[in-house]
Amino acid sequence: MRITLTGASGFVGCNIAKVLSDRHGDDVFAERIDMTDRDEVMKHVDEHRPDAIVHCAILNDWDRMWADRQYAWDCYVEASRNYADAAREAGIPCVVVSTDWVFDGVDGNYAETDIPNPTNLYGFLKAATELVSVERGATVARVSGVNGPHWARPATPRAQDPGFGYFVASIVDALEQGTTFTVWESDLINSVASPSLASMCGEVIRTALVTPDLGGAIVHCCGSDAVTRRELAQATCQAFDLDPSLLRFDAPPAAELDGRRFPHNTSLNAEWTSRTLGTPLPTVAELLEGFRHERSTGELATL
Ligand SMILES: NC(=O)c1ccc[n+]([C@@H]2O[C@H](COP(=O)([O-])OP(=O)(O)OC[C@H]3O[C@@H](n4cnc5c(N)ncnc54)[C@H](OP(=O)(O)O)[C@@H]3O)[C@@H](O)[C@H]2O)c1
Repeated sequence: MRITLTGASGFVGCNIAKVLSDRHGDDVFAERIDMTDRDEVMKHVDEHRPDAIVHCAILNDWDRMWADRQYAWDCYVEASRNYADAAREAGIPCVVVSTDWVFDGVDGNYAETDIPNPTNLYGFLKAATELVSVERGATVARVSGVNGPHWARPATPRAQDPGFGYFVASIVDALEQGTTFTVWESDLINSVASPSLASMCGEVIRTALVTPDLGGAIVHCCGSDAVTRRELAQATCQAFDLDPSLLRFDAPPAAELDGRRFPHNTSLNAEWTSRTLGTPLPTVAELLEGFRHERSTGELATL
C-alpha cells in the first residue's frame, strides 16, 4: 500500500513506519509538512495519491499547549480535521492516533464505546480530535502505556513522567547502568494503565486500515493486562533480567504535578478491537519480551 504517515520522526510514528515498511512492504510518505496548513495537507495528499492515511503527529510540548491554546487546538483538532477531510475527499481510509487519557481514570477498564471525560487540556484536545475524526469517517486508534524502542533516535528522549510512556525504557536504561530508579507512586498521577508495545500498535493500525467498514469506529491498541506502575517496574526487571533491588518507590516531585490534573486508572479494554480485527491481546510479560527482542536485535517482535 501507499500510505501517508504524519509524525514519523516521533516515538509512536517511527514504530508505525517500521511496521508498514519493514513488515508489510508499504510505500510510506512521511515528509514533514505543517499539519495545521489545510491547503498544504490537501495538496500533499492530492500529489501523492496514497491508499490510506495515518495521522500520528502531535504537538508534544505541554508548556506551549497550555500557553497558546489556539495553536494547540490547531495542532490537535484542526490538523486531524485536515487529514480526515483529505482522506474522505480521496475516498481512502484514515486512522487518527489517540490516547487513553480521553478518560477520567476513575473506573478503568474502558471499552471502545465508553464516553470520554477528560481531566486535562491534553485529554480534552484529544477527545475533540476523536469527535471530528470519527464524524468524518476516520478510524480512531487509542494507544496506551506505549513502550518500545525509539527507532528514529538513539537514546530515550525523556525520563519518567506522570504517564506510562517511556516508563519501561527509562527503568531499563537506569538499571542496566547499575543506578537506582524511583518509581513514582501517587493518586495524583496516572497509576494504572494497559501497556502496549509501539510496534504492536502499528500492527493494529495497519490491520484497521485494511478492515472493511471500520470508518468512524474507535479501536484500542494495548495488551490484555492492567498494571500499576510498581507492577510494571517489577515485570520489567523480570523480563530484562535486571536487579529489582535497584527499584525505589516514592511520590513524584511536586514540580512534576505543577497544579495539573492527571487521570488515575486509564486501563483500556480492547476485547472488541481484538475480536473485530483478529489482532492478539498480549500479556504484559509478552509485550516486555517483545520490547527486549526489538531492543537487542533491531528487528520487529511478532506477538
Ligand atoms: N508516547 C506515548 O506514550 C503516547 C501515549 C498515548 C498516546 N500517544 C499518541 O501517539 C501520537 C504520537 O505521539 P508521540 O509520543 O509519538 O509524539 P512525539 O514523539 O513527540 O512525535 C511527535 C511527532 O509530531 C510531529 N509534529 C509536531 N508538530 C508538527 C507540525 N506542526 N506539523 C507536522 N508534524 C508535527 C513531530 O515532528 P518533528 O519531530 O519534526 O517536530 C514528530 O514527528 C499522538 O497522537 C499521541 O497523542 C502517545
